[in-house]
Parts: sequence; structure tokens; C-alpha cells
Amino acid sequence: MQAAQAVPSPATSTIRYARCIENSKRIRWDIDRDVIRQREFGAADKFLPDGLTRLEPLDFLSPGERRFLNRIQGRTYANMFGLLERFVGAKMLEVSREHWLGDQVALEALVRFTDEELKHQELFRRIEVLASHCMPAGYLFVPEPNTVAQFVLGKSTWAVLALTCDIELVTQVHYRESIAADAEISALFKDVFLFHWKEESQHAVLDELEWQREDAKLTPEERDAAVDDLIALVAGVDALLQLQAEADSAYFMANKPQAGVLDAGEVETIRKTMLAAYRWQYIHSGAGQARFGELLTGLITPAQGQRIQDALAGLQ
Ligand SMILES: [Fe+2]
Ligand SMILES: [Fe+2]
Repeated sequence: MQAAQAVPSPATSTIRYARCIENSKRIRWDIDRDVIRQREFGAADKFLPDGLTRLEPLDFLSPGERRFLNRIQGRTYANMFGLLERFVGAKMLEVSREHWLGDQVALEALVRFTDEELKHQELFRRIEVLASHCMPAGYLFVPEPNTVAQFVLGKSTWAVLALTCDIELVTQVHYRESIAADAEISALFKDVFLFHWKEESQHAVLDELEWQREDAKLTPEERDAAVDDLIALVAGVDALLQLQAEADSAYFMANKPQAGVLDAGEVETIRKTMLAAYRWQYIHSGAGQARFGELLTGLITPAQGQRIQDALAGLQ
């Protein structure tokens, strides 16, 4: 049996869409004028908080080597959001079709959402260029945005909206709970995620509205198939993380600051620690947050919830 969750009435939804437009207009920012402001990253800047990078198992590395790994993870973090936003923007344009000749407030909110995601992708491309100026050559971001988007957009809209909602809640939780609080992080890197978070706050509300609207159209059988799609999407994200953790570990090994040789066990620990950190950043820290859990369990049965939990438990 499906858990009961009230679908917002059209009038309530319109008020929430309108509030997103209002907030989006109020906090609207520009990449050069507000975020980058002609700044560059420093050669030793820290990019991410320790709570996200999870490098504690690597106590055999020097502080300089751990800082280098932190910068690699930060560079990948910016690239990863740029990658995910390719399919997020495309899906929002697609679902906006249902408002074309209907709720014009909802349509405007989704058009602004898509416009903001295009801007965010440009911001993350600029951050990649700035990171390349202060890090050794050879870094490779493996996943290709259009290939990933084609795979994701081939799944049901319900599953894509669930994944999108999760990702956009993640951007808020990471910023509010760890990036904002870390006084050691590069001021430029922190600003990137401060300004990103400001616009993502509206996106997360719109994801909820569109996900619930989509859910109301599904039969129990369609929803059950959509749960399988969501599990396939999470497995797809994990496959990307495995590739990138491997590439980032190899980049570290080829460019690490200290000349000392690592033994095979230490190299293996670095690879495992990188993958565990990426799984935490992009899968578990989102799946475990209260708001996402509340929304998801409101739409699915306990048995479907268990299927998702079992799939997540396999990614440790
Ligand atoms: Fe974004
Ligand atoms: Fe977004």
C-alpha cells in the first residue's frame, strides 16, 4: 500500500512557485560581478571541509599531500555539479511543457530554474579553468555531461525528479552544514558554493512540487517500475564515482608533493578512501537527509523503501 502524502492543491502550489520566483529575482547573481570578482585560487588553498573529504584514514600521508588530495576532490566536486546540472536543466525544460498552456507562474519558475542551471554550468566550467591554473597538468574529469544526461533522461521522469531533488538538497546541506562553517577554505571556493546554494534553495522547492505532481499521475505499477529506475540511476552515479575516484587517485600518485614511495597497501587505501569519500558526498549524505527521506517515504511503500535501502547498503 502506498503511504499517504497530500499532493499540494493547485492554489497552494501556485503560491510556492510564486515565492520561488520572488526569491530567485531577489538573490539573482552574476558570475563575474558577484562570484569570481577577478580572483584566482592560491597554490595551497583548501577547497573542501574535512567532513566531506574524509581523508582521516590517510594518516601516512604528509599534511601537504592530504591538502593536495583535498584540492583534487574540490576540483572534482565543482565538475560533478556541472555534470549533473546538464540533465537537471534538460529535465526541467521538459516538465515545463505541462505548464505551457496552464499555470504561467509555474512556467516562469521553471524557466528561471533552467536559466540558473545554465549559468551554474558556466560557473563550474570557469572554476575548472581556474583550478587548472594552480594544479599540475594531467587532471582528468572522466564523465561526459551529454552521455550521462542521455542515460539519465532515458529513465522515468519520477526517478529523474527524485534524483534531482536529492542532489539539490545535497547542495544545501553541504553548504549550510560544512562549507559555510569551515574558516580555512578558499574564500573564492566558498563563495562559489554560497552563491550556488542561494539559487539551489529555490530549485529544491520546485523539485518537490514537480516530483509530487508527477507522482500523482502514476499507477502503482508505474511507480514500482520508477523505483527500479531510481535504483538504476543511483547505480549509474556510483559507476561514475568509481571511474573518477580511480582517475583522481592516479592523478594524485603521478603528482604528489612528497618524493617518498608508497607501498601497495597504502596505494590501495588511497583508492578506497577516495571512493568512500565520493560515495559519501554524492550518494549517502543526500539519501540520509531528513527532508529527502520524508518526501520519498511519503510516495512509496515500505517494501519499495526497503529495496532502495538494500541497493544503498551495497554501495559501502
Ligand atoms: Fe545548480
Ligand atoms: Fe539546481
